[in-house]
Amino acid sequence: MKTINVVQGPQNASAIILGCMRMPALSVDQAEKMIHTAVELGVNFFDNATCYTAGEAEERFGDAFRQSGIRREDVIIQTKCGLCFDRNEFDWTKENILSSVDDSLRRMKTEYLDVLLLHRPDLIFEPEQVAEAFETLEKAGKVRYFGVSNVPTLQMELLRKFVRQPLVFNQLQFSLEQSQLIDQALYLNNKTTEMAVDRDQGTLDYCRLHDITIQAWSPLQYGFFKGCFVDDPNFPELNRVLGEIGEKYGVPKTAVAIAWILRHPAKMQAIAGTMNPDHLRDICEASRVELTHHEWYQLYLAAGKYLP
Ligand SMILES: NC(=O)c1ccc[n+]([C@@H]2O[C@H](COP(=O)([O-])OP(=O)(O)OC[C@H]3O[C@@H](n4cnc5c(N)ncnc54)[C@H](OP(=O)(O)O)[C@@H]3O)[C@@H](O)[C@H]2O)c1
Repeated sequence: MKTINVVQGPQNASAIILGCMRMPALSVDQAEKMIHTAVELGVNFFDNATCYTAGEAEERFGDAFRQSGIRREDVIIQTKCGLCFDRNEFDWTKENILSSVDDSLRRMKTEYLDVLLLHRPDLIFEPEQVAEAFETLEKAGKVRYFGVSNVPTLQMELLRKFVRQPLVFNQLQFSLEQSQLIDQALYLNNKTTEMAVDRDQGTLDYCRLHDITIQAWSPLQYGFFKGCFVDDPNFPELNRVLGEIGEKYGVPKTAVAIAWILRHPAKMQAIAGTMNPDHLRDICEASRVELTHHEWYQLYLAAGKYLP
């Protein structure tokens, strides 16, 4: 498994993360098998969130991890807070961040989180409150590293003005089909295409400039949770090229789609959401593949993008 040393963050972190959003669909025994499979494949990083099935994903992970007998120090456990669907609000207040972390620790049956991310912007967040919360959590030994998710450039800048701890991750949607993160760079200032629209204030370049590692969520999905594009007949050209390149390297199509993300020089991680051990095995084959410059573009174009 490819690993990355995150600047001012976790070392030897696997390039592929297991996302636990769909874990409530599994029994504790099945979840334990999923975790064991991940670790055997070299995946040592697990992503969760307080809002995934109202805490059930954290709970299931915690029960399964405890049952697995895997040593706590051998894995990197990350969760996210701030999306309070039960209250119909997003909440980055100090009070909510602190109580969310306590709930997550309890559900996941762990003494500390390796990483805490703020999940999606609270429209009325006060950076001073975030700073106080992070300070308290770090001092109490409850959280080691901090980051954000779905947060654009100027909000990261605003946080960094007040928060002492480095923001080491930004978790963002990115896949061959949902590639807005990179598309706009091709069409700067162009009035003739949607691809020119600046949707995120240059978040990718900002993250690279400030050593913030991007974690790509839903790396195999099209649209907003519409389904997996691999082997979907609506994406014939993409699947043809995925298959052709997969054959060359002797790996499945899903591995090629993930290798496309890992090939980006920003050194992103990809968060696989599968809850099928065989699918995860396929996906992890990505680690064996280093796409050529030309193959990377072939895939980009096969996903329906075009060059100016
Ligand atoms: N920060 C955020 O706002 C945010 C938002 C969404 C997600 N996330 C994180 O990202 C993780 C991944 O998200 P995701 O689950 O949407 O990502 P994904 O890995 O792109 O999609 C997973 C889906 O693809 C299917 N799949 C995988 N391999 C397949 C194959 N070979 N054939 C057919 N279907 C296949 C899976 O089904 P099987 O289980 O049957 O394989 C599952 O339904 C989540 O768990 C969560 O941790 C973060």
